Amino acid sequence: MKLLVVGGGGREHAIIKKLKENENVEKIYALPGNGGIAEDAECVNIGAKDIEKLTQFAKANNIDFAVVAPDDPLVLGAVDALNEAGIKCFGPRKNAAIIEGSKVFSKNLMKKYGIPTAEYEVFSSAEDALKYIETCPIPTVIKADGLALGKGVIIAMTREEAVSAVKEIMEDKVFGESGNNIVIEEYLTGPEVSVLSFTDGETVVPMISSMDHKRALDNDEGLNTGGMGTVAPNPYYTEDVAKECMEKIFLPTIKAMKAEGREFKGCLYFGLMITPNGPKVIEYNCRFGDPETQVVLPLLESDLLDIMVACADGTLKDTEVKFAKKNACCVVMASEGYPKKYQTGFEIKAEKDENYELYIAGAKLSDDGKLLTGGGRVLGVVSTDDTLKGAVEKAYKCVEKVSFDNAFYRKDIGKKALLKTEE
Ligand code: AMP
Ligand code: GLY
Repeated sequence: MKLLVVGGGGREHAIIKKLKENENVEKIYALPGNGGIAEDAECVNIGAKDIEKLTQFAKANNIDFAVVAPDDPLVLGAVDALNEAGIKCFGPRKNAAIIEGSKVFSKNLMKKYGIPTAEYEVFSSAEDALKYIETCPIPTVIKADGLALGKGVIIAMTREEAVSAVKEIMEDKVFGESGNNIVIEEYLTGPEVSVLSFTDGETVVPMISSMDHKRALDNDEGLNTGGMGTVAPNPYYTEDVAKECMEKIFLPTIKAMKAEGREFKGCLYFGLMITPNGPKVIEYNCRFGDPETQVVLPLLESDLLDIMVACADGTLKDTEVKFAKKNACCVVMASEGYPKKYQTGFEIKAEKDENYELYIAGAKLSDDGKLLTGGGRVLGVVSTDDTLKGAVEKAYKCVEKVSFDNAFYRKDIGKKALLKTEE
């Protein structure tokens, strides 16, 4: 089979490496891929959002199956375009990707179908929002409606911060059109859990749970990032919590989307908070999370391509989805300065070792074939082990085998999870 994977980060590298385990795969194209992915797939210089070009490419190259991984092309309708060109895909169509594309949509969906989430109000005018903020409970959480590169959420610890967040989003338009509408919601507390799931629109199969580390610096300090590291499974996601999530969140969401005429096929990501009042949805993503995918897929024992095709065909209930009873840890190595300004173009040196897998997120090849840093998040070092402690220790040992100028990484990935396992 000839496959196409849309995207070019660490998540896509993890997906591609897993897809390659299927012996029917003859060829994988990555659009656009990156310098590191080039070792595992043929990278083609077409941007993930250039739907017309990527559809033309898929047709011209007789692609049998396409995986659309990032949020932007999904929300823009890449799967619809590929399907119309006769190409089977893993990923939701545009009318289902809206579950991530519009926070107003997802909050209203949860309210309508009784899915537990933070209380909220929607505003389309700054004036009304500012009036509401005069008396609403503080802290409060302000969210731009649309996609905002993962930056559209502001936790306001004071009323003044809430006022400036509303002004920045709705008047200064720091997130562009994404901020035309906003959600102001109740501030929740509790440990966070990421649960990615496979779904064909009817059946939903949660993958192994994981814990992201979103802040740039140790002890959850510094700016929010796309994610600086992950562990799987997440020890806060106990069997009881998993059962409650299945009954109150996962199945109801899949049913709700179907009832709305927006059948969701692909990977639905549940960002959950385990609050004192039970698990609640913080956010939905219409795709695999990054760097969650880098710890989840290495633990998948079943065949990823078979599962993805089953999601597209509606046969997931007859397909095996099995995870190893092991643990994984991913330490992201980034360019100093990320998520703000940073320099790139430094050579990445990595000593190969059976104790880790390297997923490249932001890198390019030099003319003479050297791998150079090319992004904020550069790569993920991933180790697995029978215990969480073992996986974390191994990953940090392996980080020493990888180097580039200006590298920085968090030293405490897995610390919170380990404290929980020791309780
Ligand atoms: P998101 O971009 O939706 O993942 O939100 C980023 C982060 O903001 C989440 O991972 C949470 O840590 C935090 N967050 C979002 N919504 C809430 C909420 N209602 N209460 C407390 N924290 C929240
Ligand atoms: N790591 C969080 C996300 O992919 O949105």
